[in-house]
Amino acid sequence: MERTFVMVKPDGVRRGLVGDIVSRFEQKGFTLRGIKLMHIDRPLAERHYGEHREKPFFGELVDYLTSGEVCAMIWEGQHAVANARSLIGKTNPVEAVPGTIRGDFAMDVASNVVHGSDSPESAEREISLFFGESAAAVYVFPNPPITH
Ligand code: TYD
Ligand code: MG
Repeated sequence: MERTFVMVKPDGVRRGLVGDIVSRFEQKGFTLRGIKLMHIDRPLAERHYGEHREKPFFGELVDYLTSGEVCAMIWEGQHAVANARSLIGKTNPVEAVPGTIRGDFAMDVASNVVHGSDSPESAEREISLFFGESAAAVYVFPNPPITH
């Protein structure tokens, strides 16, 4: 079974879209294998988007990704990488079809709400970056349970 790494970016978390996005993955048939709310630092953001280091938008991309909490997730299923990319939609929301996450929730490429790995190799690399090497079936809760 394949796994992919999905991340709700800071504007998605701020706008309260985590629940809807999680729901879409569940309804599609994915299995949730990890979920974690985290504030990522610049070195992690730069490693995650290392392939874009030379691009003109790199600085703004890192600023954006570190501007607030993200929701990092591991989703498992058949052709998980490709199925996730089709749920997410095209990189530029102008081209993303309505019904996809970016098509429904985003206007601008610079704040396109969600990330999904582009290959199984990228997925495993990104899962290790965000969840650590031993991220097989961990379920990480963002907050400690409320006790009275
Ligand atoms: P990319 O890996 O090409 O897209 P995707 O997220 O669909 O895999 O680019 C990474 C992110 O960089 C993208 O989600 C948004 C940002 N970006 C820009 O801000 N401007 C651009 O022109 C491009 C191509 C991407
Ligand atoms: Mg990409």
